[in-house]
Amino acid sequence: MAQEVRGVVAHGKGEPVSVETITVPDPGPGEAVVAVRACGVCHTDLHYREGGINDGFPFLLGHEAAGVVESVGSGVVGLEPGDFVVLNWRAVCGTCRACRRGQPWYCFSTFNAEQPMTLSDGRALSPALGIGAFAEKTLVAAGQCTKVNPAAAPEVAGLLGCGVMAGLGAAMYTGGVGRGDSIAVIGCGGVGNAAIAGARLAGATTIIAVDVDPRKLEWAKEFGATHTVNSQEVDAVEAIQELTDGNGANVVVDAVGRPETFKQAFYARDLAGTAVLVGVPTPEMTVELPLIDVFGRGGATKSSWYGDCLPSRDFPMLVDLHLQGRLPLEKFVSETIGLGEVEQAFHRMERGEVLRSVVVL
Ligand SMILES: NC(=O)c1ccc[n+]([C@@H]2O[C@H](COP(=O)([O-])OP(=O)(O)OC[C@H]3O[C@@H](n4cnc5c(N)ncnc54)[C@H](O)[C@@H]3O)[C@@H](O)[C@H]2O)c1
Ligand SMILES: [Zn+2]
Ligand SMILES: [Zn+2]
Repeated sequence: MAQEVRGVVAHGKGEPVSVETITVPDPGPGEAVVAVRACGVCHTDLHYREGGINDGFPFLLGHEAAGVVESVGSGVVGLEPGDFVVLNWRAVCGTCRACRRGQPWYCFSTFNAEQPMTLSDGRALSPALGIGAFAEKTLVAAGQCTKVNPAAAPEVAGLLGCGVMAGLGAAMYTGGVGRGDSIAVIGCGGVGNAAIAGARLAGATTIIAVDVDPRKLEWAKEFGATHTVNSQEVDAVEAIQELTDGNGANVVVDAVGRPETFKQAFYARDLAGTAVLVGVPTPEMTVELPLIDVFGRGGATKSSWYGDCLPSRDFPMLVDLHLQGRLPLEKFVSETIGLGEVEQAFHRMERGEVLRSVVVL
């Protein structure tokens, strides 16, 4: 029997979101209904609300969530009612060209639920990133549910579902940071501070946090930054070079995603170093670089989609590291809020007051 629950809906470009009654169908083949326990407010939810992703309104927002499986459809194996799961937007297909080449973290054909969730007037909702978890219950593809240790608090575990995983993976996987490496992270919001935490986990010895907001730099120290740079006061590239014997860092992560920060990342690398773009630019942004510098500085510039993560590999491991006290995920939770407070949380995010507001249910 389909169920009626409350969910946070974005109706149109720039319009404040509101809590609506939504209909969640019973899970069909390969699907699962999850009772959401917590869902973080990510910058991407705001991008959806502003029409920056596409114009598929109405959107059911929320995509950084943990919950408990309520029911599964036919053909679902390895997932049962009662399982504690983190929701992911990378349910790999196993058959696309990336999966067949043994690189499932690039999967080009990920699974989402096939049935729509609807508003009471019957209009189909577009769930953010195929999840839609600012809701008491949501319908997803079973592969979007990754089981993790239920000892973890939902508001903490759920953060791995998007921004925190993207940042951790930008450092650990895309950047390939290892023991003894130096790294600089430009932009220390939820994603950038996660890159800092990932660099510490991977054994980096010099971890330089760069931001224009002193509050963010203070938080960055708690995640493992060994040095901080306020790039409104000093030149970021020069400061990073000074902190690395004049050479630049082995890896520089741009967690802002603007032409000027990308250029800083490009030039603040050591020779043969890696620049990683994890912040998401907008379509009108361009960069111009001397081609001789692209050649002469060597190394790599890479983009990081979802931190090149593989949820089945990474979510349980990262939850275990957190439970062992080696990954302070709880420090990302600036506040917990109710379903009705998402619009205010967007404003706090825009003012830079929070790393993550997390809706708890
Ligand atoms: N690649 C992915 O898979 C992925 C996943 C999730 C989020 N993201 C993107 O990552 C980016 C960061 O997300 P977030 O949630 O951390 O956002 P956020 O707003 O919390 O943080 C952005 C930070 O950048 C700082 N900043 C802004 N301009 C700067 C500049 N010129 N120089 C230095 N610092 C500057 C801000 O002070 C803030 O601390 C966003 O673009 C988001 O869309 C990417
Ligand atoms: Zn695939
Ligand atoms: Zn997100």
